[in-house]
Amino acid sequence: MEFLKDGVNDWIDEYGASIENYCHFALKVVKVVVDEIGADRVGMRLSPFSDHYEAEDSSPEALGLYMTESLNKFRVLYCHMVEPRIGIDRDIIRDCSHSLFTMRKAFNGTFIVARGYTRDDRNKVVLEDRADLVAFGRLFLANPVLPKRFEFNAPLNKYSRATFYTSNPVISYTDYPFLNSIA
Ligand SMILES: Cc1cc2nc3c(=O)[nH]c(=O)nc-3n(C[C@H](O)[C@H](O)[C@H](O)COP(=O)(O)O)c2cc1C
Repeated sequence: MEFLKDGVNDWIDEYGASIENYCHFALKVVKVVVDEIGADRVGMRLSPFSDHYEAEDSSPEALGLYMTESLNKFRVLYCHMVEPRIGIDRDIIRDCSHSLFTMRKAFNGTFIVARGYTRDDRNKVVLEDRADLVAFGRLFLANPVLPKRFEFNAPLNKYSRATFYTSNPVISYTDYPFLNSIA
């Protein structure tokens, strides 16, 4: 993302100063990988709206659209977009239901979205044809057999943010209760 975003890319050569140049490096990588293993095995995850580590962009929609249209030329399998659904308080979800609409419409492959989705949100976004698939991060981490839980609309464990980036796997990633141990 350092190359893609105009907030942090200060190159003045073929890798900077215009949206085409910001995307040049990423697309070069896509080409090499596609040539090596085939487009049907390649996907890309993009977060045009993210401002992590000050890597923000002044025109995230244009950036996302340029990348999706460029990815079409390589016929890659999927494009996975992270939505701007989370505000300063990372547990509060904002409504931004149309933020990815132009990118979704433009992309010819499988379009995946992520960030802050619940089971019901997932159903809605797929039914409304705003995505083909929804990816889950925190819910997956905190809920062994998440698809099964969704299938039965079973209760979900709450994730523990305090243990997200700890180095001890036992006290974070492997000790969330299994479905059959929920009362
Ligand atoms: C512990 C943790 C580590 C993550 N690491 C990465 C990462 O390395 N790369 C990335 O693109 N996203 C990473 N994410 C973001 C997730 O892939 C996902 O986009 C984010 O959690 C939003 O989806 P969610 O609301 O379903 O959790 C991480 C998230 C968590 C909670």
